[in-house]
Amino acid sequence: MAMESVANSVQLPPLDNPNERAAVGEELQLMLQDLIDLSLVGKQLHWSVFGASARGVHLFLDELVEEWSELADVVAERAVTLGFVPDGQSSAVAAGSRVEPVVVRSLADHVVVWELGRRVAAVAERIRARLGSIGGADLVTQDVLIRVVGTLEKQQWLLRVQLGEKA
Ligand SMILES: [Fe+2]
Repeated sequence: MAMESVANSVQLPPLDNPNERAAVGEELQLMLQDLIDLSLVGKQLHWSVFGASARGVHLFLDELVEEWSELADVVAERAVTLGFVPDGQSSAVAAGSRVEPVVVRSLADHVVVWELGRRVAAVAERIRARLGSIGGADLVTQDVLIRVVGTLEKQQWLLRVQLGEKA
């Protein structure tokens, strides 16, 4: 992981389990990479979409991109608060993101919604799977994870209904 620990240079918040400090930092770095990559994929789809609902999807994608950017900032700043310097540069994202890239061509509106929905779901599921262990290490960081998962799952619902599925 490309994060530098500055643990000895400042007075850091005590964690519920200090032995897990590095693991918490790594989790935040992974989440940061995924959120930045979601925002990049979202912009790509914002530019690629065509079809009868293209305008709505195009505009909605910018709202999602903004939400992912805001969450990325919260995640990165939690990492710094705990004494890690997160890496949000393209090289770190390219090396570490677990978000699948999309094909570079025009994509029909319903395909865009489907492709995005499964990527958002994958990120949400990965973070949800880590909620328990991160909570054991640091409840305040767990709260950040919960906020991210809650936002992503709400986005899943908003994407799902655009595919014509009932809530
Ligand atoms: Fe735009």
